[in-house]
Amino acid sequence: MVQSTGLKKINCAVFISGSGSNLESLIQFSKKKNSPISIELIISDNPKAIGLKFGKIYKISNIVLDYNNKKIAEKKIISEIKNKKIKIICLAGFMRILTKDFIKNFKGKILNIHPSLLPQYKGLNTHQRAISNREKYSGCTVHFVNSKLDSGKIILQKKVRIVKSDTAKSLARKILTQEHKLYPKAISKIFNL
Ligand code: GRF
Repeated sequence: MVQSTGLKKINCAVFISGSGSNLESLIQFSKKKNSPISIELIISDNPKAIGLKFGKIYKISNIVLDYNNKKIAEKKIISEIKNKKIKIICLAGFMRILTKDFIKNFKGKILNIHPSLLPQYKGLNTHQRAISNREKYSGCTVHFVNSKLDSGKIILQKKVRIVKSDTAKSLARKILTQEHKLYPKAISKIFNL
């Protein structure tokens, strides 16, 4: 459980690599009065990540890291996280695997959203794999991050029905809509709200 300190919101960093639609939904959630988080930092490994625009729009500082050297990149992240007094990290479409040391440092404080009903379909291409296996349902999962990929304790899941006409693209779109609701709910849940 992450301890909330009464009315004061807890500083949160969101890590992205792409379009950042989950980032935007988290920013909107964070602005609600009863939200436990305040997003103070956006981190990306990709200078071209479309989601970086939300940093500008909502005036949140962002850093783009050169991930050619992961150790140096993570050192920078850790120092920025200390500067900004970040207490919770939300991975939202962040396409890098954090080192074991980094995860250990923030044990129980890193969350991720994954577009499948974990433990099914860990890793990439989840939608196509679910369709190819003729699954009736897929969905999304918010979980704590541990040192094994997509394997930490599950916080919340949402099922989405797969229909015959679904393609990986249409399924991704349907699931993404649910992700935008699930991530804020999962954050409220870990703060017992
Ligand atoms: C989402 O489907 C998320 O579950 C996965 O990557 C996608 C990111 O989308 N990890 P966005 O960048 O939040 O729009």
